[in-house]
Amino acid sequence: MQTLTVDLGDRSYPIHIGTSLLDRSELILPHLAQKRVAVVTNTTVAPLYLERLSASLQAAGVAVMPIVLPDGEAYKTWETLNLIFDALLGARAERKTTLIALGGGVIGDMTGFAAACYQRGMPFIQIPTTLLSQVDSSVGGKTGINHPLGKNMIGAFYQPQVVLADTDTLKTLPAREVSAGLAEIIKYGLIWDVEFLGWLEANMDKLRALDAAAIAHAIHRSCEIKAQVVSQDEREGGIRAILNLGHTFGHAIETGMGYGNWLHGEAVGAGMVMAAEASRRMGWLSDADVARSRALIRAAGLPDVAPDLGVDTWLDYMGHDKKVESGKLRFVLLKRLGEAVVTGDMPEATLRATLAACVAPTGD
Ligand code: NAD
Ligand code: GLY
Repeated sequence: MQTLTVDLGDRSYPIHIGTSLLDRSELILPHLAQKRVAVVTNTTVAPLYLERLSASLQAAGVAVMPIVLPDGEAYKTWETLNLIFDALLGARAERKTTLIALGGGVIGDMTGFAAACYQRGMPFIQIPTTLLSQVDSSVGGKTGINHPLGKNMIGAFYQPQVVLADTDTLKTLPAREVSAGLAEIIKYGLIWDVEFLGWLEANMDKLRALDAAAIAHAIHRSCEIKAQVVSQDEREGGIRAILNLGHTFGHAIETGMGYGNWLHGEAVGAGMVMAAEASRRMGWLSDADVARSRALIRAAGLPDVAPDLGVDTWLDYMGHDKKVESGKLRFVLLKRLGEAVVTGDMPEATLRATLAACVAPTGD
């Protein structure tokens, strides 16, 4: 097992990465304020892993209440969130009861938000079971739900007590979900670490095949970068925004296509190609840099061409972005491979040209 720390003063917490962690209640027990937990999961993950996690906690004398939600991005809503509150109130859960998120990013984001709200804040633990959630969403304390007008627009910053990334759980993940996780891993190379980008190029086949050593390295390096960024800027006053490379475009794709039709990682993949293309048009990336980014995204099994939502729809959905300031769109772009910048200075003509090129490449 490898352990990293997200350094946030008295709210610091460990990320444990390894195999068979679901059976290791000793990693959870020190973080419980009382020997009672509610495990929030969904109808897909529950039959796979709920029993194992519950058995290990119960063997340590912990009372476990399961809360099983419907599965899917389309359920990341107020209505589903309320099911968590209904269950907690119905069972008289207390402020010191701990919520455990067992699942992918949808479960993690909703459970974290429920924990931030229930009795004005109860402790929570992240047990991410998708590649995407192990490298990104379980770390850093962004929690929330979608709104029909915008992705992740309702939420809170609320940090977990501990993150347990059990890499064994990835063995049951569909290949399409593995690719979605690879999008966020590629993101870290593009924004932060060009050497890691090269390593990803050399190891993409192994990663897609879930080679144990390769996947452990990719998760560790991704969490290391994310922990470093979040420690500097927990609430996204500045540098943390670079973790959103491709997301302004990607969130528009997700909202525009209907939540769940494009996976979050797929939308981010196509969105990162758009960000690379926009960076080229700003004079920062070369043609070869864009081609390299696109090739890696394709090699990960991700789409590199965005759906044609229509320019007005694109602009409308991108206007519902958390980076918008004083009504002005801001984008994460690349100064070079391995270095990101947040800018409000992309000319509208460049944005429109990027949209035109990426939904229907013209090759100019
Ligand atoms: P997801 O949670 O929808 O999980 C993908 C699918 O895999 C689901 O059907 C799920 O039930 C299933 N699944 C989960 N674990 C499994 C396993 N081990 N075996 C088989 N199936 C399994 O999607 P995701 O990609 O994990 O997360 C995407 C969400 O995360 C989006 O809502 C996105 O907005 C959010 N996100 C949040 C942050 C953050 O910082 N909070 C960062 C990135 C993404
Ligand atoms: N996934 C973006 C962030 O955590 O800031």
